[in-house]
Amino acid sequence: MRNIEDILKDMTMEEKLGQLAQYNANLFLNSDADITGPLTELGLTTEELKNVGSVLNFRNAREVCTIQKQHLEADRHKIPMLFMMDVIHGYRTIYPIPLGLGCSFDTELVEACTRMASREATAAGVQVTFTPMVDYVRDARWGRVMETCGEDTLVNSRMGAAQVRAFQGESLKDKSTMATCVKHYAAYGGAEAGRDYNQVELSEHSLREFYLPAYKACLDAGAEMLMPAFNTLNGVPCVANPWLMQTVLREDWGHDPLVISDYNAIGELRKHGVAENMKQAAKLAFENGCHIEMCSSGYIKYLKELVQEGVFTEEQVDDACRKVLQLKEKLGLFEDPYRGCSPEGEAKAMLTPENRALARKAARECAVLLKNEGVLPLSGQEKKIALIGPMASTNALKGFWACQGRDEETVSVEEGMRNALPEARIVAVRGCGNTCQDLDMSGFAEAVEAAKEADVVILCLGEPQDYSGEGNSRAELELPGVQTELAEAVIGANPNTAVVLFSGRPLVLTRLEKMAKAMLTMWFPGTEAGNAVADLLLGKANPCGKLTMTFPAAVGQCPIYYNHPRTGRPKPANKDGVHMPYTSNYIECGNLPLYSFGHGLSYSKFVYEGLTLSADSFTAGEKVTATVTLRNESDRSGKETVMLYMQDVVASNTRPVQQLLDYVKVELAPRECREVTFTITEEQLRFWNNAHRFVSEPGLFRISTGYADHLLHTKELTLK
Ligand code: BGC
Repeated sequence: MRNIEDILKDMTMEEKLGQLAQYNANLFLNSDADITGPLTELGLTTEELKNVGSVLNFRNAREVCTIQKQHLEADRHKIPMLFMMDVIHGYRTIYPIPLGLGCSFDTELVEACTRMASREATAAGVQVTFTPMVDYVRDARWGRVMETCGEDTLVNSRMGAAQVRAFQGESLKDKSTMATCVKHYAAYGGAEAGRDYNQVELSEHSLREFYLPAYKACLDAGAEMLMPAFNTLNGVPCVANPWLMQTVLREDWGHDPLVISDYNAIGELRKHGVAENMKQAAKLAFENGCHIEMCSSGYIKYLKELVQEGVFTEEQVDDACRKVLQLKEKLGLFEDPYRGCSPEGEAKAMLTPENRALARKAARECAVLLKNEGVLPLSGQEKKIALIGPMASTNALKGFWACQGRDEETVSVEEGMRNALPEARIVAVRGCGNTCQDLDMSGFAEAVEAAKEADVVILCLGEPQDYSGEGNSRAELELPGVQTELAEAVIGANPNTAVVLFSGRPLVLTRLEKMAKAMLTMWFPGTEAGNAVADLLLGKANPCGKLTMTFPAAVGQCPIYYNHPRTGRPKPANKDGVHMPYTSNYIECGNLPLYSFGHGLSYSKFVYEGLTLSADSFTAGEKVTATVTLRNESDRSGKETVMLYMQDVVASNTRPVQQLLDYVKVELAPRECREVTFTITEEQLRFWNNAHRFVSEPGLFRISTGYADHLLHTKELTLK
């Protein structure tokens, strides 16, 4: 084993600074002539490039091996390079986008998918992934909601920690594991008006209670790295934000992970107007404990000068460099700089039948059945099926951030339905396009004809894949183009229509919902999309996803989320027992969302028979058991996520109308009745108070089951 301290002692300042920089693979793969332009832009010399310690955006094991070999031949210390990549929802076999994964409420499923991604990615040479992304979100206009698990802190924390555990495994010496990098610290999802990279202004209590805990949960689970976000938080860009980087991360949480900037985020400190030049930008980021600079060159260029001027000590540079070397050591790179990757091994690991089977299962479990008035499941006896809409025959269903996933390897709905029903007469008609600009209705007539002829219509609508993801915010949340008009024409011609939706975010489906008898949202389901759709439509699989992000009734309701604070003028509960805690009505659309957090139907019929508490009062240190009785009143087995909510009735701060306390997903056989138990402790009732501490306050709490705006069986519990 190499001794890191010995290596450090022998390194020049330039060599150490190389370890603190990361650039794109093309700089290392192309000839000197081809990289002159990009190098000039970065202000780098080829000499400086030789010392660089890590790489991103390579494509395969061959590139990793080439870069590593070339580097080791030139490096006098033989320090291997570190290879990082965004492995977000699969490497080559793509599973549903994280927003879909959240809706599965199934951490074991997420772990299994993550392990699959890790096996494929490590075979291709990836050593660190820029995952999990646990930005808490409340505004569906923001394109990056697709990368999150939604608007609940508990779900985000559990899913994030599950990904850390599954990627990192027991030991990073195991070559099928990789290190994780939690991002984007912090509150990037709070971008004002959902516009990407926009400022974030949040109170400390919102941050501490809703936005920050998931990053901490991932670090507690052992995440090796952390990435500060692009945005300003309360006026200060995150990478240079002392409150975030020092006070919260290091002092309050006691975590000191290896920190890497986001892409050119240090360079962008100049655009933010907090640094006059790259030297000042480098100073701001380094003094706030950012160790690696991604894709700008402030550290390589100016840290040496800053040490000579006495702004930083050489020990500080050593500390940062040591952390990089320690991660390389943990990953076993000094023993095997290639970490076992090879083009042959890579070819074998990709898209195996087992991987495809898991992706198919995941796509089924993440789908959410929004509405179903007797259309689904299909009987399988339908002779003539019309597949209509712009998403019916496309294989562009993997979603943004799909790494090495390929459309041509993705199963379209048409292919999936033909696989499942080889005997049926299936016609596929596009009808219209799916972009905002595409307003052409000339395909409607053919679609209407096909609908009239069919026993059942599967209407496949949605957003293009690149309408969500980085930089892709939307000002409207309706189906783009004339898709709702297509639905009107098609459903008018044949009401026996099930709508299948594909999107990277909650959509505004208010008009569609009035016409459609059945709506199933698949998010972007990944490689096995069409097969999973067929499984669900034909009842070979039973939908079990529940929304982790609210579907607004109109875009003007955004940001809208289930756990908002109470107000002085709440609307009273309506006669259906639906809670209407939102303040004051919007004139056009009321104040309720179309579908709340927690909504999701099944082909089974689940009845919540009751909720009991083991005590009606308790003290800190004691535990109360809550028991929910759930019955499957159907002849079909199915899964249900049972949720427990609470409301703190009186506290020194205004508390949310409801908060998810705990949840568990259970499978019930036909007609089975099951008691589901939860443990309530005083810690779960805490909040961030005005004295800047997490506390619980004695008093009354309301405990309920059901979901968000549809709470059931409320019981009172007193904390003494
Ligand atoms: C994104 C990060 C990502 C990084 C590297 C940035 O643009 O914000 O999420 O990890 O690029 O690809």
